[in-house]
Amino acid sequence: MEQTEKKQVVFSAIQPSGTITLGNYLGAVRNWVKMQDEYDCIYALADLHTITVRQNPAQMRRNILDAYASIMACGVDVEKSLFFIQSHVHTHAEMAWVLNCYTQFGELSRMTQFKDKSKKHADNINAGLFTYPALMAGDILLYQADKVPVGADQKQHIELTCDIAKRFNGIYGDVFKIPEGFIPKNGARVMSLQNPLNKMSKSDENVNGCVHLLDTPEVIMRKFKRAVTDSEACVRYAEGKDGVNNLMTIYSAVTGKSLDAIEAEFAGKGYGDFKTAVGEAVVEELRPIRERYEQLIRDKAYLEDCYRQAAGVALKISSRTLGKVMKKVGFVR
Ligand code: TRP
Repeated sequence: MEQTEKKQVVFSAIQPSGTITLGNYLGAVRNWVKMQDEYDCIYALADLHTITVRQNPAQMRRNILDAYASIMACGVDVEKSLFFIQSHVHTHAEMAWVLNCYTQFGELSRMTQFKDKSKKHADNINAGLFTYPALMAGDILLYQADKVPVGADQKQHIELTCDIAKRFNGIYGDVFKIPEGFIPKNGARVMSLQNPLNKMSKSDENVNGCVHLLDTPEVIMRKFKRAVTDSEACVRYAEGKDGVNNLMTIYSAVTGKSLDAIEAEFAGKGYGDFKTAVGEAVVEELRPIRERYEQLIRDKAYLEDCYRQAAGVALKISSRTLGKVMKKVGFVR
């Protein structure tokens, strides 16, 4: 069928810095899958960003392939969307260098993620960690993206991306589309099951705090049964009930039930029943994903085919923008 209107371009990326978690899935990847029909979606594994924190090489290679297969298993469809590995597309590193020269020290110093990560990795506050937002701005601007779905923690980076783009356009004319960052409404913010004041994270020091996409049903059930709640023994969403609120958020995200409906469903029941129900719902949601992952990860040739092709297309699209940028800045072409 003839397309009358061009679809808007969505760009997003995720760092393959470990396994994909339930938080990544409910907060981001599930939305990536949903957006594929309405938009021209471009997704990347931001592996260049990952080395701002020291990595073990063998583990990193495994993480990247695992993340690629996991995200495909979640439903990111390479027939519909572009899904590539950032380091395979050399325009990203080149664009990052150029944008570094249009980004101010003061701006980068104000990034809360930089301040947080500097505290956490005090022995390795490297220049890449500092200029990380310029690399991220390049990712987005190379594809002239209209919309960038991100988690709340990345909002400041998107604002900086827009500032850099406007600054560049102000000097050289309209080179970049100014993107619009947004936090998907139906993206759940999933917290640690052990410390529900912190985001669910693969680096949680308590293994029971984080559910991984590929955890077995037994492991998932065990983690939910041990989830931190409170002493009220009443399933309701309220301030101060962070553990229960988190479990309700997860249950709601997976089943589509409203918080009110969940409260009614568990009226008069204890946390034991509730945690079992949440665990079982998550197990069923993740079961087909794990099965599809098992197939994909065994077929390395197919995976390679997918990311090779995607890299070729990404290079072609991004080279158009990079070429324009180089010309405007004054490099001899
Ligand atoms: N920095 C993002 C994160 O850690 C990942 C990322 C890299 C990204 N490049 C991007 C997200 C471009 C959106 C757009 O979550």
